Amino acid sequence: RIQRRNIQYRRDIDFFAPKLIAIFESLVPADEEIAKQKQLINSLNKLISREWPHARLHLYGSCANSFGVSNSDIDVCLSIDEKELGKAEILLKLADILEAGNLQNVQALTRARVPIVKMMDPETGLSCDICINNLLAVVNTKLLKDYAMIDPRLRQLAFIVKHWAKSRRVNETYQGTLSSYAYVIMCIHFLQNRRPAILPCLQAMEATYVVRVDNIDCAFFDDVDKLHAFGARNRESISRLLWAFFHYWAYQHDYTADVVSIRTGTLISKHSKDWTRRIGNDRHLICIEDPFETSHDLGRVVDKFTIKILREEFERAANILQYDPNPTVTLFEPY
Ligand code: GTP
Ligand code: MG
Repeated sequence: RIQRRNIQYRRDIDFFAPKLIAIFESLVPADEEIAKQKQLINSLNKLISREWPHARLHLYGSCANSFGVSNSDIDVCLSIDEKELGKAEILLKLADILEAGNLQNVQALTRARVPIVKMMDPETGLSCDICINNLLAVVNTKLLKDYAMIDPRLRQLAFIVKHWAKSRRVNETYQGTLSSYAYVIMCIHFLQNRRPAILPCLQAMEATYVVRVDNIDCAFFDDVDKLHAFGARNRESISRLLWAFFHYWAYQHDYTADVVSIRTGTLISKHSKDWTRRIGNDRHLICIEDPFETSHDLGRVVDKFTIKILREEFERAANILQYDPNPTVTLFEPY
């Protein structure tokens, strides 16, 4: 590994940028799809406000953070201040309301790790998962969306990495690999650390957006219109960045010592977080700090078998981008 650390870019690396951008564009949802999602939320809000006048639905996850591919399920959070009912009871009541409103396949999963109601809207054909009061997810959705508006290369990189991860089946948290959310955080961290930097660290700047959610202070600079030229001094193409991203995770990242932290904009040490040993089910074999729930390692799902799978996939991707005659095809070959 050590010998290959300073490997040079292939000479024709920039040649592949237009192909990658075409792949990115083919994954971006059309405006009509975004409009359909908003329409569904509006009609669900009307339905729910008859029963709970102060409750509100928020979109979160990939349909709201701008990292969603077309035809993905939509993630919805019900914010409700309801002292009488427990979460399970709220979900069951919500399921009744939705069924009475003619939504289909309504299912309350009250025992899941994140309890939700699943449903399908026959009018738009959209499926959605509704959770209760998961407002941190709404805030981290805004943070990701704000980062995406600073430099277009973030969305391009993250879409391509997510597409690669889905093709190679390393985007399955229940199988011990990483969530889409974790991959986007890895991309943000990577772009914060290019020289010149392509992204700033919004949580290290003067806060213009401040909320307190579940006893956590969330604060960051969100006037991102002022930052649209932030990355302009760095002219790296998307293919070069993708190459460097996979080389970083294949050959440069120090898995024994380092934690990726977009909250600070740099690597921090596992030692400083006491993430050096396994505690309970948290193994900390690849460490990615949640920007707000800082005790939360998004890599906690990875175990001693899946870390090998992941690292082999990073190496495969790095090598394809270095040597393959047709990298933009081979990279995404199904596992
Ligand atoms: P796709 O559905 O794969 O397109 O991506 P997604 O962005 O919807 O990601 P995912 O399904 O992994 O997660 C949905 C949302 O839940 C994320 O955007 C986050 O807002 C939130 N989320 C997911 N995992 C975590 C986590 O471990 N911690 C926290 N705080 N939020 C999470
Ligand atoms: Mg999702």
